[in-house]
Amino acid sequence: MKQKISLPQSFRAIDVIRKKRDGCELSQNEIEGLVNAYTSGDIPDYQVSAWLMAVVLKGMTRAETAALTDAMLHSGDVLDLSGLKAKKVDKHSTGGVGDKTSLVLAPLAAAAGIAVPMISGRGLGHTGGTLDKLEAIPGFNVNLSVTEFRRVLETCGCAMIGQTAEIAPADRKLYALRDVTGTVESPYLICASIMSKKLAEGIDALVLDVKTGSGAFMKSEKDATFLAELMVETGERMGKQVVALITDMDQPLGNKIGNAIEVLEVLEVLRGDGPEDLKELCLELAAWMLHLGGVASTVTDGRQQSAKLISSGKALDKFRQMIELQGGDARIVDDPKLLPQAQHMTDVLSTKAGYVNSMQCEDIGTACVILGGGRERKEDSVDPAVGIVLHKKVADRVSAGEPLATIHYNAEAQAARARQLIEASCVVTDAAPSAKRPLIHKVIGSGVMGKSAERS
Ligand code: URA
Repeated sequence: MKQKISLPQSFRAIDVIRKKRDGCELSQNEIEGLVNAYTSGDIPDYQVSAWLMAVVLKGMTRAETAALTDAMLHSGDVLDLSGLKAKKVDKHSTGGVGDKTSLVLAPLAAAAGIAVPMISGRGLGHTGGTLDKLEAIPGFNVNLSVTEFRRVLETCGCAMIGQTAEIAPADRKLYALRDVTGTVESPYLICASIMSKKLAEGIDALVLDVKTGSGAFMKSEKDATFLAELMVETGERMGKQVVALITDMDQPLGNKIGNAIEVLEVLEVLRGDGPEDLKELCLELAAWMLHLGGVASTVTDGRQQSAKLISSGKALDKFRQMIELQGGDARIVDDPKLLPQAQHMTDVLSTKAGYVNSMQCEDIGTACVILGGGRERKEDSVDPAVGIVLHKKVADRVSAGEPLATIHYNAEAQAARARQLIEASCVVTDAAPSAKRPLIHKVIGSGVMGKSAERS
């Protein structure tokens, strides 16, 4: 942990809050002062909550965003992984519903010879979090010290942890506060949060998955593009190769939502099965990781290599090895029944025949939070076993009385609230939807700025 930085006599949080509230630009010193004071516990949650809300409402300039990213990055140590021969490449998503790609990608890219030092977050708002999913694996430790993190990374090529007291501690505190104060949806805060922890990992390159649609923080493609460009620019300014894929989150990714349930789907994909959308996105993101990591000469080559690493079982073997090294029960790989299971299940039935026209994806994520799969308050603990399995996705045909989804639950009252949300969120119409949204909307950065995703 960094030495405690003493605040300048003149620093007053109230002044910084007022200045942002009034739409003025903050200086680097003011931003650093606020971040350092919060990290060291010198100013309370309520003042930082007010400042965060002012940022959500008034925005930030590029200079402020860079200063915030830098202050958060330097709130802890920046890892020096230059001793590792392999190129260090990570991937990060802006958050979605059913988005479990990180659990597939870390072992998959490691199996290709890339080092993946992954520092992730917990569920935020209606979205799931990689750490909560990993902790559904009995014994899995996401709180490794930097020394342990390095050892796991050197031994198996990937390691997955949360922010520590040593790495990006400011983001850890701010992330938890934003989650419960309605201050997640700001491109500037999302950019600083993601880029500070990613840049602290000592990576050479980064693949970003920026979600767009009803389950994303950035609902419109325009806002997602703005965020993607902000992050690519911030990363490149710090000398990293960064690419951002804008991908669809207008319905959940894959069929399973919930922590242990999503680990099940990860195992399916690593065995070469699993839902098509999830498989396709994993292969595309892995392809970019392999390409930026210098293991694949083109993205197409990266896709082909990734598919082979799955069919040969090498990616699954890496996942098993990483679980063991991080203290988890690796028997879940061959016996998924060892994962936590909810006590009850109930189906949500379609009241009419037709086609699933749309899903309110955020509400499905919220239904999972209500079941206990996420947090409604900062102090809540997460129930790893609960979740939702979708039997129908957008454009699927459904008969009257056929299950749209199955809820896995441990408390009746929560299941009833979740059912209402799921029922209201799935719209069934007589005709199939006229146009299908693409899974990958566009690719930004690393020489493809602004172009549509190429399948070259
Ligand atoms: N993911 C992060 O790590 N931070 C955010 O602010 C949003 C998504």
